[in-house]
Amino acid sequence: MEAIKIGIIGGSGLYKMEALQNIEEITIETPFGKTSDNLITGTLDGEKVVFLPRHGRNHHLLPSELPFQANIYALKQLGVEYIISASAVGSLQKEIKPLDLVIPDQFIDRTKNRPATFFGEGIVAHVAFGHPTCPQLGKILAKAITNLNLEDIELHEGGTYICMEGPAFSTIAESNLYRSWGASIIGMTNLTEAKLAREAEIAYATLALVTDYDCWNPEHDHVTVETVIQNLHQNAVNAQKVIRETVKLIAENPFVSKAHSALKDAIITPLNNAP
Ligand code: ADE
Repeated sequence: MEAIKIGIIGGSGLYKMEALQNIEEITIETPFGKTSDNLITGTLDGEKVVFLPRHGRNHHLLPSELPFQANIYALKQLGVEYIISASAVGSLQKEIKPLDLVIPDQFIDRTKNRPATFFGEGIVAHVAFGHPTCPQLGKILAKAITNLNLEDIELHEGGTYICMEGPAFSTIAESNLYRSWGASIIGMTNLTEAKLAREAEIAYATLALVTDYDCWNPEHDHVTVETVIQNLHQNAVNAQKVIRETVKLIAENPFVSKAHSALKDAIITPLNNAP
């Protein structure tokens, strides 16, 4: 099968890509079990892409239950070189408002309960992760957003995404702690994906879509699923447009990312010693 170079992971609210044509649904068995849902392949304005709804099309998987390894493994098997990952997030800063778009370039790990590597069991590797997202892919996402000129929606380029375990939202003390660290946004999934994508030598960037102010802002109600859902619909409309434009820009100008050779200096175990 011809390689599909662009993978799209849809988060809360983004369960399908409306503009996708020539759709096929495929199941891929991986050594890490089943993916979150079947993979949906198709073309977006003529470019082959594969779409995966992170929580399943009916949103039945908790962040801690996500088969992150299987998802990234399956995308790699299809030949994916770039992942655009759309995710709903809470804002930790006043100027980052609900419905705004953020392209984070750093993460802080507050997860506790999920495998986040393909290594172990006899093969030791430590990938470089100082820049956890692909800067070129982040710039393309930003260009796509600027090209679209979305009304009333601000773009925040760069920023730190706190990745918490969930499923409960944060306490006020936690939310304020993250603010004191200078973090911008909070979510429950993207750091784990970014780590595995790096190990799989796939360029990865997050399109974060803000739904709420978490629970630190006295001028706003604390986040609830109801607040998140209220903003998800508009966010999903914007995400579809941004992803479509980003795919067009990547197709026009495919590029080599440092992520594509992330394993070059990362594996310690001599390969003739590997099991
Ligand atoms: N996803 C959307 N809003 C969130 C929040 N406030 N905390 C964690 N994940 C979120």
